[in-house]
Amino acid sequence: MSGSKINVAKQAASFLEKKLTADMILGIGTGSTVNFFIEEIKPYSHLFKGAVSSSERSSALLKEAGISVFELNDINEIAFYIDGADEVSEDKSLIKGGGGAHTREKIVASASNHFICIVDDSKLVKKLGAFPLPIEVIPESRSLVSRKIISLGGTPLYRQAFITDQGNQIIDVSDLDLRNPVEMEIKLNSIAGVVDNGIFAINKPLTVLVSE
Ligand code: A5P
Repeated sequence: MSGSKINVAKQAASFLEKKLTADMILGIGTGSTVNFFIEEIKPYSHLFKGAVSSSERSSALLKEAGISVFELNDINEIAFYIDGADEVSEDKSLIKGGGGAHTREKIVASASNHFICIVDDSKLVKKLGAFPLPIEVIPESRSLVSRKIISLGGTPLYRQAFITDQGNQIIDVSDLDLRNPVEMEIKLNSIAGVVDNGIFAINKPLTVLVSE
């Protein structure tokens, strides 16, 4: 498994190598595949300006790798956003958030010109939903949101002892009908108390790299 993640991380680094410029900012996702990518891009750190990170974990690794980390508010353009996923469907819709970082991941992805998703082939699915869908919620709203999710046909499970970088909680939801992922992404985000859900169907990756 980690061999496949290293393989796709190498693919992403070589895809980017020739495209890097001195003033370029990269967006960096979160997770074990991205951790390998940070290792692979490290030798090229002098060829681009720095990165906007989607999590405290990735920020720490980027800094260790000698890559400058910028706040999204201070950056006008993110050329490429590189991130893993928990599921990738045939139309490139994703489920993300296994690491609980999907809210910031979605923000940084949407701020970028080109989203590159990097996965091993175990993440490719015919239909989304075998992986429980992570939903970040304001802590006070957790029970209310869970009841609303049950009324949509979902089965919510509170992710115990986990707090997001924004100080919120995560509900992992099984059994939702995700045949129309755009509709469900919008519907879930319209529930009061939901910060964001892990469906990436409105803003999908332009490129999906899969380990060989
Ligand atoms: C983080 O919250 C997730 O969205 C990750 O992108 C996803 O869980 C992929 O992680 P791995 O690269 O560790 O499989």
